[in-house]
Amino acid sequence: MNLQFKQGSIQESTADTLIVNLFADVTSPGGATGAVDNALDGAISALIANGDLTGKAGEVAVLYPRGAIAATRVLVAGMGERAGFTVEGVRQTAAAAILRAQELNAKEVATIVHGAGIAGLPVAAATQATIEGAMLAAYTYDKKEGEGIQRLTIVGYDEAKKAEIEQGIAVGTAVVAGTTLARDLVNLPPNIATPKKMAKTAKKIANAYKMELIVGGRKWAAKQKMGAFLAVAQGAGFPPKFIVMEHNSQRTDLPTIVLVGKGITFDTGGISIKSKQNMGLMKSDMGGAAAVIGAMKTVGMLDLPLRVIGIAPCTENMPDAHAYRPADVVTASSGQTIEIISTDAEGRMVLADALLYAQKYEPDVVVDLATLTGACVVALGAGMAAGLFSTSDDLRDKLQTAGQTTQERLWPLPLWDDYQKAIESDVADMKNSGGHMGGVATSAIFLKQFVNFDSWAHLDIAGMALAEKPRGYITKGGTGFGVRLLVEFLRNWSE
Ligand code: BES
Ligand code: MN
Ligand code: ZN
Repeated sequence: MNLQFKQGSIQESTADTLIVNLFADVTSPGGATGAVDNALDGAISALIANGDLTGKAGEVAVLYPRGAIAATRVLVAGMGERAGFTVEGVRQTAAAAILRAQELNAKEVATIVHGAGIAGLPVAAATQATIEGAMLAAYTYDKKEGEGIQRLTIVGYDEAKKAEIEQGIAVGTAVVAGTTLARDLVNLPPNIATPKKMAKTAKKIANAYKMELIVGGRKWAAKQKMGAFLAVAQGAGFPPKFIVMEHNSQRTDLPTIVLVGKGITFDTGGISIKSKQNMGLMKSDMGGAAAVIGAMKTVGMLDLPLRVIGIAPCTENMPDAHAYRPADVVTASSGQTIEIISTDAEGRMVLADALLYAQKYEPDVVVDLATLTGACVVALGAGMAAGLFSTSDDLRDKLQTAGQTTQERLWPLPLWDDYQKAIESDVADMKNSGGHMGGVATSAIFLKQFVNFDSWAHLDIAGMALAEKPRGYITKGGTGFGVRLLVEFLRNWSE
């Protein structure tokens, strides 16, 4: 979908479909909706007066101008109550309207920015959210050329707001591009979205935005003594790739933020094999890596004034004659030894070496994202929130705030030392699984053993990377969860 900005009156647009909006308490619309209403000789006011249009959230009324203006149809999207209206309301409004436009086979759509009028949201943020809601709702994996809406025009009447709208368009476009990339990577079948494919994707981004790139294979990882990462990769058919992307690589004067994403391109469980029911969903076990690579794309597009490092340890987890096995003891790059209890607790293994690698950047902050435990989904529910663990209250609060703004919600869970008991081993420094009880917290305490920096957060996104059903601008399948959150967090940091 092509995106453009036009300054002027929306009723004069040549698009086939116009989108305006209405709050629930409005009986006589003003602003752009009022201007369209006037051009249509009061057709919108008449709908309101007759009770056919109430402005409640999710409602979309369709009007046919029949020559009164150039457009074929006008959609009036309900925004709900004005009190407490947020950028999430903007996204939901834009999504509902664009989905309706899509059903009506619209090709060229013009929309106003939702929420920047009487609701009083900052113009740039409202513009960004309008674009996110519309474009992410219209996302389909594998869209054919010429299919769906071809062009979206953001129309702004007030010349004084032009610069802010353009700023919002730049950010919105970059966020949508990163999220779309992450969704695509998760939606690709696991025989295509291999570690090599992940590395190729990272390479394209690194080339386009002048980032440094490291793609380490088995030999490279062996040189780094990454025994935990390599143990998981031992049984893999597709060769593993340890991917590192560096934005502003040499700028050690800037704050350094390292993002780490679990990149298991398919998780069979290995020798501790999973049951066959729904095993296919484990193609999404690289959702953390997809979010990190997607966020790096957005970081590059916006050229954020931060030193941002993206690390994605990628491998499949397969049962094979060479596969690692329960009771094995392996040594991570720090020299710490790990007794394997379950080969299905593979995510924390690859993250152990990735977190150790992060240390070499002397980071101010490290955030990892991983589809780590089923226990997290049991605790919080699918699609509700990611589990949030942090060694820093300040970092936890900043992430939670970004999660609230983006509606990529995070909920805090404990990192008490007492959990360590569960992973004590008789034969190694620790076990890779603390068993069933408290599984989400014991996985986090395992990761903490490999953290040697002050400010670390771990996000368990197991229930968030994949959506069973579409919901507004979240499409079925890969959600791209984490990209919007990370970008919001980074942008706040660089301000
Ligand atoms: N990738 C899974 C976790 C997962 C489960 C993600 C459901 C998304 C949806 C992870 O590698 C795993 O298998 N975890 C085990 C850990 C256990 C063996 C300690 C689990 O949650 O059962
Ligand atoms: Mn597993
Ligand atoms: Zn896994």
